[in-house]
Amino acid sequence: MNPTTDFVPFAKPSLGAEEEAAVLEVMRSGWLTTGKVALEFEKEFASFAGVPRALAVNSATSGLHLALEALKIGPGDVVVTSPYTFTSTAAVARHLGAEVAFCDVGKDGYDMDPSSLADRLATTRNCRAVMPVHVGGLPCDMDRILPMAKKYGCAVVEDAAHSFPSRLPSGLAGTLGDVGVYSFYVTKTITTGEGGMIVAKDDRLLSRMATMRMHGIDRAVWDRYTSKGASWKYGVIDAGFKYNLPDLLAAIGRAQLRKADRFLAERVAIARAYDEAFADRDYLALPPRGAGHAWHLYALRIVPGKLSIDRDAFIERLAALGVGSSVHFIPLHVMPYWSERYALKPGDFPNALETYERTVSLPAFQGMTGAQVERVVEAVVSVGDSARMAGKR
Ligand SMILES: Cc1ncc(COP(=O)(O)O)c(C=O)c1O
Repeated sequence: MNPTTDFVPFAKPSLGAEEEAAVLEVMRSGWLTTGKVALEFEKEFASFAGVPRALAVNSATSGLHLALEALKIGPGDVVVTSPYTFTSTAAVARHLGAEVAFCDVGKDGYDMDPSSLADRLATTRNCRAVMPVHVGGLPCDMDRILPMAKKYGCAVVEDAAHSFPSRLPSGLAGTLGDVGVYSFYVTKTITTGEGGMIVAKDDRLLSRMATMRMHGIDRAVWDRYTSKGASWKYGVIDAGFKYNLPDLLAAIGRAQLRKADRFLAERVAIARAYDEAFADRDYLALPPRGAGHAWHLYALRIVPGKLSIDRDAFIERLAALGVGSSVHFIPLHVMPYWSERYALKPGDFPNALETYERTVSLPAFQGMTGAQVERVVEAVVSVGDSARMAGKR
């Protein structure tokens, strides 16, 4: 094995002839930005998700921002989420002048802990929305979170950036709350390079988001340059954003969507292979599991007290053996901005801190070869076994 030439990256998009042909078609069509292809992508996505309508946007961050704006969240309001997420989940509340309150994740887990949420809701005034994050593709406990949010009059905005196409008996994760937002960032299960999709229970919310997605313009105007019948006239009814998804990217999304179930099956198979390989290593804790896991991430945890090295050294040694990895997430409450704004200390969310300090996300992407999976397993076991402290196995 040559660690340089045989490097296994942490993530790699799975793009083929279908995506290439679809992009070429758009390039040759004379219409590059949002138009018919994005509309088709929305319809196909909605049909896949089992909802009447979906809105394509240029990122999940934009989608989350639009969602909170449509819910009229602003100064004086509070949004509750867990710190175990990417900064944009919380930042969009700040963009609107609202404040963020955090609750912890479950012990040895990555998702919002419903009991900690209950405590936070009981002690937070003016809470308007709860944002559960389906970290790594494992859906949060929505059966407990939804009624709790309702009890306190809060909307539920699911950050489903990681969870497509996770299915629960009650529906696709992301379609269970008031609004759900998916990401098509380049590491996600289906990608458009950058992009996202929004779904919502109330069509009026979606209509508001459609307007604000496109400068606050009162009607769809994308065909005004190309259609003989379309009018050049439009009205601006609010100070909107520029969050539309261009056809060039939507074309990739359509091709990816057709492969989504196959991609999921591949990810599940990789997770199973890792589970099997690591089950007897007691210095490793397998990722939490549950119904509808989309396995966007395979996030292992290092068991305390078993190894002579910490997580950072573990990652360095994996890299030296030619295996890329990552950490999801550095929790927000230890980030300078969030800790300073809300005077938070690392120990305020002990579960999030503990998980962060021990976690490592391994390569798990569709298109990964059996040999690559094997390489990752060998590297993890070799780093772990060689760092195992005597008498600790
Ligand atoms: C949990 C979570 N939410 C939201 C986002 C934002 O997604 P995007 O990059 O599409 O804006 C990310 C980014 O990866 C994420 O991990």
